[in-house]
Amino acid sequence: MKKDNRFILVGNWKMNPQSLSEAKKLQRAYGRIQSKYPGIVLSYAPPTVYLSPLASRTGKAPTIVAQNIFYEEEGAYTGETSIEMARSVGAQAVLIGHSERRHYFGVDEKSIGKKIKKAIYENMPMIVCIGEQERDSAGEYIDVLETQLNTVLAPFANKKTKLGLLTIAYEPLWAIGSKATRAITADELFSTYLLLEKIMSTYMSTNRAKRIPVLYGGSVDGDNIADLASVPGIDGVLVGRASLDKQELERICKNVEKS
Ligand code: PGA
Repeated sequence: MKKDNRFILVGNWKMNPQSLSEAKKLQRAYGRIQSKYPGIVLSYAPPTVYLSPLASRTGKAPTIVAQNIFYEEEGAYTGETSIEMARSVGAQAVLIGHSERRHYFGVDEKSIGKKIKKAIYENMPMIVCIGEQERDSAGEYIDVLETQLNTVLAPFANKKTKLGLLTIAYEPLWAIGSKATRAITADELFSTYLLLEKIMSTYMSTNRAKRIPVLYGGSVDGDNIADLASVPGIDGVLVGRASLDKQELERICKNVEKS
């Protein structure tokens, strides 16, 4: 996941689909779509239990991403999965700090920081999610993003050479999931990207900050993708609902190529 000319599309399957056979069908669709749209770097994050059976059926692409990992290597942590475990069954990258993990499972900044440190240590590419709960007019969301970016970037302080492992996914909560009413507009997204770049530039040179891939996530679909994909600085998208529907996924890819 590097900042190059290819557009990144990560399908976050969340807790879907309901059976392995449906997951295999969806995976086949991803393979077909990837070969049809080589200008797009396609990856998908299936539920943890599907990692192994899906990874054993795939070649190098599309990349398989683990939706969640823990920062310890082993031990009495019922229900958790270490980075090495996920890697051993085929995960090539990990999602860290998704808003649903923060919201429903109490994942906080401290544990997100530890997960990032561990992923750096394990040389595991990571997509770290940040995003404000609401877009308030007083600008408090700016502080929220600053705090979250601090958590993301602090573990890289003495390991700037490892920044190649990092992709940031900006996902405002108000635009995510089945309750969201709308995606962000292209203007809102561009101004937020500039803000993120400015905050990142306090940790590193602006040139370096520009090289960290930034994805947008939240209600992305075939209708809004062309606008979102053309926002300068945005390298790709993290897609939930629409990533489960192969026709919609293909429409997204088609419209990215047109944009
Ligand atoms: P959505 O989810 O596309 O369904 O809004 C995005 C995400 O949670 O990653």
